[in-house]
Amino acid sequence: MTGASSGIGAEIARALAVRGYPTQLVARREEALTDLSAELAATSGLASEVHAADLGDDAGREAVRDLLLHDERLVGLVNAAGYGVTGRVATLARRAEDRAALDGLVRLNVLALHDLTVAAVGAFAGRSRSTRRSGAILNVSSITAFQPLPGVASYAASKAFVQSFSEAVHAELAGTGVTLTTLSPGLTRTGFADAADTDAFDRAPDLVVGEAADVAEAGVAAMAAGHRSVVPGLVNQLSAAGGRLAPRTLLLPVLNTAMDWFG
Ligand SMILES: NC(=O)c1ccc[n+]([C@@H]2O[C@H](COP(=O)([O-])OP(=O)(O)OC[C@H]3O[C@@H](n4cnc5c(N)ncnc54)[C@H](OP(=O)(O)O)[C@@H]3O)[C@@H](O)[C@H]2O)c1
Repeated sequence: MTGASSGIGAEIARALAVRGYPTQLVARREEALTDLSAELAATSGLASEVHAADLGDDAGREAVRDLLLHDERLVGLVNAAGYGVTGRVATLARRAEDRAALDGLVRLNVLALHDLTVAAVGAFAGRSRSTRRSGAILNVSSITAFQPLPGVASYAASKAFVQSFSEAVHAELAGTGVTLTTLSPGLTRTGFADAADTDAFDRAPDLVVGEAADVAEAGVAAMAAGHRSVVPGLVNQLSAAGGRLAPRTLLLPVLNTAMDWFG
């Protein structure tokens, strides 16, 4: 499972351990993964393996893909690694550092998730046929997937990719014994705000900021049930429905002004 060193990913690893599933923990921060592995061993008695890898890098992504293809024990994949970049594109385009952050965002949120999902679908379908074990994939999207979002344009577009791709593959997998579930959280208290360089989460009302453990629980429950997708929380469900249904000509000018708030 990717993104296991903090936030929603770490909580998903905990929720899987409670259900008796051992995990292979992937992220760049090896020490955080090792700490989580020790915690899971102490609380559940399960042995979790640690794989430090930068999934924005070809070599790191390919190493994790090889694990999925060749480790016959693996019948589950969670893609939780991801980050956001705030700012208007015309502003971000001026600095090489910001352009590199946008490039890295696409490589991690889109390319790595796509590559690992394709590998897992092929490997799990083969294992499901030969051993009759079922396989399950959980891809972490976002409520930003449901409409274009000025101010976080690349991030929202990356999650729209995750949502569309994952829902389509969920349908393709019907009857194969392998499921793909998409988890689309709203604002959630994690390391995400620091990585995206925004204090919007501190300024948002408590009602709209969820806890990572609750989001993870919703995702793992939906994954275990083989559901197509889950949006945790009523406020987020309303936001997702509004984003899907509202005419773009009305919605985009409002969002363009509102997103200044994310600063
Ligand atoms: N928090 C929110 O409000 C929110 C809302 C909707 C969706 N999401 C999504 O939820 C997922 C988890 O984010 P989070 O909120 O839990 O944030 P987080 O606490 O910052 O966790 C992000 C995870 O991604 C990993 N990661 C980042 N860059 C990586 C790279 N190049 N290679 C490998 N791993 C990398 C991080 O580990 P290392 O730094 O150790 O590599 C960390 O484990 C993301 O996909 C995010 O888009 C978050």
